[in-house]
Amino acid sequence: MKKLFLIPMMLLATLMLTAACSEDDPTLDEQEQTTPEENDEGEGNEGNNEEGGNVEGGNGRYLVLYCSRTGNTERMAQTIQATLDCDMIVVEPETPYEDDYNAMLDRAQAELDAIEQGNYPAITTSVESFDEYDIVFIGYPIWYSHIATPMQAFLHNHADLLAGKHIALFASSGSSGISTSERDAATLVPDAMFEESLLLTSGTLGNMETRIPQWLESLGTSREKPDTPNATSLNVNLIVGKQTAARDRECNVRFEKQ
Ligand SMILES: Cc1cc2nc3c(=O)[nH]c(=O)nc-3n(C[C@H](O)[C@H](O)[C@H](O)COP(=O)(O)O)c2cc1C
Repeated sequence: MKKLFLIPMMLLATLMLTAACSEDDPTLDEQEQTTPEENDEGEGNEGNNEEGGNVEGGNGRYLVLYCSRTGNTERMAQTIQATLDCDMIVVEPETPYEDDYNAMLDRAQAELDAIEQGNYPAITTSVESFDEYDIVFIGYPIWYSHIATPMQAFLHNHADLLAGKHIALFASSGSSGISTSERDAATLVPDAMFEESLLLTSGTLGNMETRIPQWLESLGTSREKPDTPNATSLNVNLIVGKQTAARDRECNVRFEKQ
C-alpha cells in the first residue's frame, strides 16, 4: 500500500522539482495565564506564518525549530522567522498536548521521568539535514526547569545530524531561568556549538518585539540571502507517514504529510 502511494508521490516530486528549479517547580498557575502580544510579522512574510507551523523562508541560512503548547514559544519563533525570513518547523508530539492543565503537568512529569531512564516520547517531526544552515534556532517552553519533552525527543533523535552545528536556544517560562535547560541541550547534543540563549518570561514576553531583534543582532545574523549558494547537488528526501522536512539551497523542496 505504501509503495503504491510512493509512486505517484515520486512523480509529483519530479514535477515539483522541475517547477522549483525553473523559477528560482514552578508557580505554574500564574504562568498559564500569560497572554503574549500578537506577533507583528516582518516584511515579505505577509500571510506566511500567522498560524505558526512550518514556513519556508527566503533566507537559507537559518532554521527555526520550536515546540509550544499555549503559543508563547510559538510567537517567539514567529518573530525570529519574520525577522530573518528563514525556514521554520514546528516539533509536535505524536500524542497531542493535554488540554487540561493538571493532566498536562502529570504527563510532563511522567515523560521527564521516562527521559531520565532513556525513553523519549514519540514525535511526528524529523529533519533530514541541517547542512545548509549556519544557525539552528531551537525553541521550547520550560517544563519543570527542563526543555519541554517533545523538543528533548527531537534533539535526542537528531543529535548526530546536529553535531558541529551552531545552535541558538530560545525559551519561554513563567519565571524560571534557562540554565537547567541549557544543560539539557548540552547533554542531548554534546557536539553542537551553542550560541548565547534567549529566555522570555511572563514578565518579559511583552518586550518580544524589541528583545528578539536585539538578540538576533548580537548573534550576528542577517536577513540577507547568501551571495553564492554553495549547494552543488540536489537532495530530495521523501518520507511518508511522518512530518518531514528537506531542503536544498538552490532548489527548495519540501514534502510533508501531517
Ligand atoms: C508541564 C509544564 C511545566 C512547566 N514548568 C514550568 C517551570 O518549571 N518554570 C516556569 O517558570 N514555568 C513553567 N511552566 C510554564 C511555561 O514554561 C510557560 O507558560 C511557557 O511560556 C509556555 O510556553 P508555550 O506557550 O510555548 O507552551 C510550565 C508549564 C507546563 C505546561
